[in-house]
Amino acid sequence: MEQSRTQKHTVVLVPLPLQGHMTPMLQLGSILYSKGFSIVVAHSEFRPPNPLNHPEFIFHPLSDGLSAPMEDYMVQLMEDQKLQGHQVSCIIYDSHLCFVDSVATHLNIPGIILRPDMAVYMLAFRYICQLEAENRIPFPESRLLDPVPELDPLRFKDLPHPITKEIPEWIMDFFASSVNIRSSVAIILNTTDCLEHSTLSRLQQCYKVPCFPIAPLHKLGAAATSTSFLEEDQRCIHWLEKQPSNSVLYISLGSIACVNEQELTETAWGLANSGIPFIWVLRSDSMDGSQLEDNFPEGVKALLGERGLIVKWVPQKKVLAHSAVGGFWSHCGWNSTIESICEGVPMICRPHFADQLSNARYLTYEWKVGLEIENVLDRGSIEKSIRRLMVDAEGKEMRQRMSVMKDKLEAGLQKGGSSYESLNDLTEFISQLPS
Ligand code: UDX
Repeated sequence: MEQSRTQKHTVVLVPLPLQGHMTPMLQLGSILYSKGFSIVVAHSEFRPPNPLNHPEFIFHPLSDGLSAPMEDYMVQLMEDQKLQGHQVSCIIYDSHLCFVDSVATHLNIPGIILRPDMAVYMLAFRYICQLEAENRIPFPESRLLDPVPELDPLRFKDLPHPITKEIPEWIMDFFASSVNIRSSVAIILNTTDCLEHSTLSRLQQCYKVPCFPIAPLHKLGAAATSTSFLEEDQRCIHWLEKQPSNSVLYISLGSIACVNEQELTETAWGLANSGIPFIWVLRSDSMDGSQLEDNFPEGVKALLGERGLIVKWVPQKKVLAHSAVGGFWSHCGWNSTIESICEGVPMICRPHFADQLSNARYLTYEWKVGLEIENVLDRGSIEKSIRRLMVDAEGKEMRQRMSVMKDKLEAGLQKGGSSYESLNDLTEFISQLPS
């Protein structure tokens, strides 16, 4: 794309202030910047992104959830841009931030939705809305393992919310609003054709606007730039340097999921008994309802000894890319999942909620690159799962399949590949939007 044509185009990004949503939005910003667009990030005052990590962007804090401050700012921005001979081409916003749509519509600026998750998740939300409309919730427990029609390979138990009990109205409203794209002129998804070919076709049939699957976003933009809210502990990389290839298990539950004290203790015992070196991310708020420092079970650290590291937050993409890391125990958030696929690291899946359930189903059943620890966490099944992944032939086969998936994702980023072409289509699309 010619610099001279696009540099006059400004794209406004409105991210949700959650790590798993902020990261793909900033990554998309870096990619569009590299394509010649100016980037403005209009973000919540609560948990702002670190502007020092993106000196090329303009950051503007907004009061939460209110369309008025957003609209006032957009009016001012549009005037400033006009004076400089520039134009605001579009607002790209997180799919949960419905208020942005009303601002965009009112000011006649095209709005584009960014989905940070798999395409199948949006269809799964639609399916729950359909079940509710057909009065099929509560759904019989005995049928939870049945396949969901049209959402193969998902089963009813893999849907984003339990369906065996009534779902409160406010949650149903949230689902309905999540699948409503309102007046948006396009949808961008952090997924790719090689992972979800048929699902993407179905999604495209449901929504008449163009869908741009572009993934992995972090491999297309400024990969080295941190998007973390928490400080990344870089010491783990030095520690990894001393470990043999594929020997270390990396454990992280992303930025939201928590464990209770019993699960923490069982995990520590399972790890200790497995004999496998590890890096275990335990955020200060990783334990249900309490600060971890005050409640770390007696003896857990001593039990684990020198064989591993317990840290609060790491540069995850660097950790996964390190040759010493041979497995990833994850809650299966989509960012973690796609980051692991990108580095060919097989997974232990322990989904907690939302899209993590369907992501785990894809990892374990469809792609066969992960194994799931189901039911209650106990030290015996943890030890067994760790050894299956890290030592047994089964784990080696999963690693080989992950490596094939990694190659496919990389091929999609090359000229002629699906993500490469989809990104070009998106930049062309934005450049031609009416101002
Ligand atoms: C949330 C949802 O829970 C998830 O299911 C959805 O797909 C996206 O939004 P989160 O739970 O935080 O996200 O998980 P995930 O999507 O995996 O995102 C976590 C991000 O934090 C990843 O990009 C990961 O690289 C990063 N991370 C995690 C670190 O940089 N360091 C860490 O120590 C742990």
